[in-house]
Amino acid sequence: MKITSLGYLRLESPEAKEWSTFGPEVLGLAVSEDPLGRDGTVALTNDDRPGRIVISEGRHNRLQRMGWEVPGADDLALAVEELERAGVAVRRATAEQCAAARVRDLVGFTDPAGFAHEVFYGQLVVPGSFRPGRAMSGFVTGAQGLGHIVLMVPDLAESLEFYRTVLGFKVSDEIDMGGERLVFLHVNPRHHTLAVAGVPGMRGLHHLMLQVGSVDDVGMAYDLCLDRKIPIAMTLGRHTNDRMLSFYLRSPSGFEIEYGWGADTVDEDQWVVTHMRSPSIWGHRPGDAPPPGCLEPGAGSRSS
Ligand SMILES: [Fe+2]
Repeated sequence: MKITSLGYLRLESPEAKEWSTFGPEVLGLAVSEDPLGRDGTVALTNDDRPGRIVISEGRHNRLQRMGWEVPGADDLALAVEELERAGVAVRRATAEQCAAARVRDLVGFTDPAGFAHEVFYGQLVVPGSFRPGRAMSGFVTGAQGLGHIVLMVPDLAESLEFYRTVLGFKVSDEIDMGGERLVFLHVNPRHHTLAVAGVPGMRGLHHLMLQVGSVDDVGMAYDLCLDRKIPIAMTLGRHTNDRMLSFYLRSPSGFEIEYGWGADTVDEDQWVVTHMRSPSIWGHRPGDAPPPGCLEPGAGSRSS
């Protein structure tokens, strides 16, 4: 499957409304109009594609679905063929669902962990429309997509196999975290668009990474978190694998935001997989935030 980037995320949260200030004032995201005009739904973006991140009011903090971009209609048709060949049930979308997602066409399916995915092509772009919610330089998107996500899955080997062989992700590297493997995967020059960690019996979104254009954007967000007493999940630090300088803050919806700058990119022709024993060269010390709260029972746990 020819996935080229992470296009969008759809989340459910009792704290959805908080994102209307947290998104623009802390993260610098722009508020987009929700095409369905729903109360209690906040649509945000980090570039000229409106509504990349949509949080809807609901009972639980939950990743509802993630949208993966393919280049065009033929690639979407091929993706459907590949999913069906792999025995995955594919859900077609109505014209209304495509319009609400601001894409030309999409299909949905569920992965072995129970996560809902969509593959789409033809996302709406409004050139020149992005205005950050606070003074900052902007975000690194384009060919690298929205950012990266780290998912917790009940069965690491099973999920990795699915993301690699069915969705077409390529391994960038791995980090051993005290006996646990954290595996990083790419589909474009971004070092990883997806990373996966095994958490027995559970699935969830650990964090969404947003990459900013300047190191000062990171420093100013750090100050804002201190001023507003927003819980820091991990202090400033630099990662070993993608060399990103970042810190992690706790979002109103349980999962964390990694706010980073300066990551290395992947040159697919030259790339060699390595593994590391530590996630950070320096920093990334635990902060004062409670543990991640965007978890639900994983599909693997239902059969056991
Ligand atoms: Fe990250």
